[in-house]
Formats: sequence, structure tokens, C-alpha cells
Amino acid sequence: MRLTVIGTGYLGATHAACMAELGHEVLGVDVDPDKVAALQAGRVPFHEPGLPELIAEHTASGRLRFTTDYAEAGAFADVHFVCVGTPQLGGSEGADLTYVDSAFAAIAEHAAPDALVVGKSTVPVGTAGRLADTHACVEVAWNPEFLREGFAVEDTLRPDRLVFGVRSERAETILRKVYASVLTAGTPLVTADFPTAELVKTAANAFLATKISFINAMAEVCEAAGGDVGVLAEAIGYDDRIGPKFLRAGVGFGGGCLPKDIRAFAHRADELGVSLDFLREVDAINMRRRDKVVELAREQCGGSVLGARIAVLGAAFKPDSDDIRDSPALNVAARLRLDGADVTVYDPEAMDNARKAFPLLGYALSAEEALGGADLVLHLTEWPQFREIDPERARSLVSRPRIVDGRGVLDADRWTAAGWRFRALGRTAPVGEGLR
Ligand SMILES: NC(=O)c1ccc[n+]([C@@H]2O[C@H](COP(=O)([O-])OP(=O)(O)OC[C@H]3O[C@@H](n4cnc5c(N)ncnc54)[C@H](O)[C@@H]3O)[C@@H](O)[C@H]2O)c1
Repeated sequence: MRLTVIGTGYLGATHAACMAELGHEVLGVDVDPDKVAALQAGRVPFHEPGLPELIAEHTASGRLRFTTDYAEAGAFADVHFVCVGTPQLGGSEGADLTYVDSAFAAIAEHAAPDALVVGKSTVPVGTAGRLADTHACVEVAWNPEFLREGFAVEDTLRPDRLVFGVRSERAETILRKVYASVLTAGTPLVTADFPTAELVKTAANAFLATKISFINAMAEVCEAAGGDVGVLAEAIGYDDRIGPKFLRAGVGFGGGCLPKDIRAFAHRADELGVSLDFLREVDAINMRRRDKVVELAREQCGGSVLGARIAVLGAAFKPDSDDIRDSPALNVAARLRLDGADVTVYDPEAMDNARKAFPLLGYALSAEEALGGADLVLHLTEWPQFREIDPERARSLVSRPRIVDGRGVLDADRWTAAGWRFRALGRTAPVGEGLR
């Protein structure tokens, strides 16, 4: 089939490449000419494992092309996927639908009559119905996306479920054709009305955020009561009604999705006269964990970070990504810099993005360089290579062997045995206390 994918960021570039991989002819459309030129040349302007190979292969074969021209897109295909951003509105919790609205308006103007325009962006419930009413010349469907950055290719080619929000059998039949090989492989399909399809995505993100903030709230209680949240999480995770996933206490979630999606969901619920105030508490718990890391950093530096050399390991909001949107690591790094610390950041992939967004922070070319002469080390993004750092070797590089593990994955006993003063969130006992 011929498809267009409108908006070629993290979601759209992946969707376009994976649709080509599934055998379709795909035209990616974006308003950013630099992004289009890079993708057309087979280069991916962000880090996503496995994606550069797919983009290079399918642009070289001609099965995947990119353009800024909506007229070309309208003429190219009768099925259009809309993957543009829905960031948080300035000055509000709500979602900014400007990009979705303008993408639908532009494709509706150029598409063939009765073309199917399929929204994939995460939107407040009610958006699909509004767009269908506004653009009656095309048919609208909603097919929310659940991919995880870092696993985006795998999640698109082998999703754990597909959700089709449709108003007609025709729309469902077309979407079944698009995803034929995925469905043949046994992927569960849920077909729903528009509001339910939109809500599946926001409900899933709200649930995940709530689970993370739940364990982080337990971390707060452990800090106050002298417990250990790592042991607590292990013990409750054995209950298969609870499960062990998303139960690691730490500096919390960030990125371009969870924070803005739970805010937009609470905001939309207010408009509908339903209270989802608990999501505001989920958000507040999450933000408090960043405060806690700043507080631990101060404590580790004897009450003030003024003049302290602090190495921050991590800048991306999660490993295997260069996405720094609402990154807890950079939030903490920037606050310590404002408090007078000399902060040096290292991240395996997100250095360019971090430098652009936070030019006043220091940057190192390697973890070892960041550690050099540090008075304190903060481990804030869970890259596997940080877990492999040898505490003995690291100790020989720093000025003072003090570390805060903001992700709860480092081996406290190993670091302590190597002479480090080790602190983690959700544990009161400062392991290695007394060492300097
Ligand atoms: N990133 C993820 O992991 C993920 C996962 C699931 C769902 N989503 C949702 O997908 C949507 C996109 O997220 P993203 O992370 O890919 O955002 P992004 O900012 O990386 O990409 C958005 C792209 O849309 C382009 N764009 C903006 N207006 C346009 C227009 N009128 N026409 C064509 N292109 C236009 C931008 O130039 C940009 O390239 C959001 O609603 C997000 O919540 C994202």
C-alpha cells in the first residue's frame, strides 16, 4: 500500500521506516526542511537503536521518501498517518493541539475525497471527533501509539497490541490491511470508538506514571521511617497482582510523553467535570524526587554545593535515547549549577541536545573525564555503561569518593567496599558514612 506519515519526529520517523519495512511505499512529511533533508539522505537526526539502518535501507531502495510538500502527500496516497507533536501548552496543563490541527487541515485540503486520515499523536479525548466533524471531506480514524523510545523499532514491528478507533467498517478494513503482517503474527487488536481509543493511550500513561510515583512515595516513607525501598519493592513485586516492573524507586520519570500526558489528562478531565486530581499528586511526587536529589547533593557536600565539582552521569531522560525533554538529570544538573556548583555532565548520546538546551553546564567527553577531580558524583540516567563503571578505578579519579545513585541500580556494597560514601533514594542509612 501507499501511505504518508505526517510529522517525522521520534514517533513519525520510526512509524514511516517500520511501515516501509512491512512492505509499504511510504512518504514522510514534515514542516522542518532540515529534518526532511537529513532523513531523505538516510540520516536520523536523533538516537534510536535500529532506526538508522531501516531508514538508510529503505531510502536507498526508494520505498521510503521524505518531503515538505503536502500537495505531493495528498496525491501520493489515500492513507495518511498524523504523528505531529502535542506538547504542553505554555501557561497551562493542557495539550497544545496547534500542530495536530494544522496537520489535519493541510492534509484534508490536499487529500483525495474519502482518504483515511489516521491520528497517532496522543491527544485529549474528544479531539478525533472534533477533527472528523471539521474535516468531513476525509475519513478520520485514531490509532494511538505505545512505542517506547529506545525500543521504538521493535515496539512498532512487534507491538503488544494495536488499537483502532474507527467510525466505519471501511476504516477498520483499511487499517487491518496496513497492519496485515503484524496482525497475522498474532498481535491482539482492540477496535473501539474514538473516545475509548484516545483514552486507552492516556490511561496507559497515567497508570505507568502512577506506578512509578507510587514506589517513589514509598521511597519518601522509607526515608522518613528508616526503611529500604529496594527491599520493599522486591517483596511487593513477587505478588503477581502487583508485579516487579516499574517499581524501581529513583529520580522519577521525564521525557516528552508521561509528564505532559498526565497533566493534559487531568486538565481534560476537569473540562469533562471528572476529577483526576490524583494525577496532580503523581506529578508532584515525581517532581519532589528531583528536589530530593538536590537535597542529598547539598548534604553530601556539607550543606552547600557552592564551589563543589559535581559530575552528573546522564542527560537523556532515559537510556538508549538522546531525548532530553523534561529530563530529570538535566533538571537536577541545572539547579545545582544555579546553586553555585561546577557541574560537568556526561551522556553517551544526548550531549549535543544537552549542550544546546543548557549551554552553561560543563560537558565531558567520557564518564572518566566527568569524574576527574569531582567532589560528588550523581548517577541520574540508567545507561548500562554507568553500571559497569569500576568503583576502584572511579575512586582514583575523583577528589572525594561520594556518590548519589538516583536510579537505584548501582551495587551499594561494591561501591562502599571501594571506599565510597554511597547514598540512594529511599534508603536512610548513608552507607560508608565517615569516609571522605
Ligand atoms: N516519542 C514517543 O516515544 C511517543 C510515543 C507514543 C506517542 N507519542 C506521541 O506522538 C506525538 C509525536 O511525538 P514525538 O515525540 O514524535 O514528537 P517530535 O517533536 O519528535 O516530532 C514531531 C514532528 O512533527 C513535525 N511537525 C509539526 N507540525 C507539523 C505539521 N503541521 N506538518 C508536518 N509536520 C509537523 C515537527 O517538525 C516534528 O518533526 C506526540 O503526540 C506524542 O505524545 C510519542
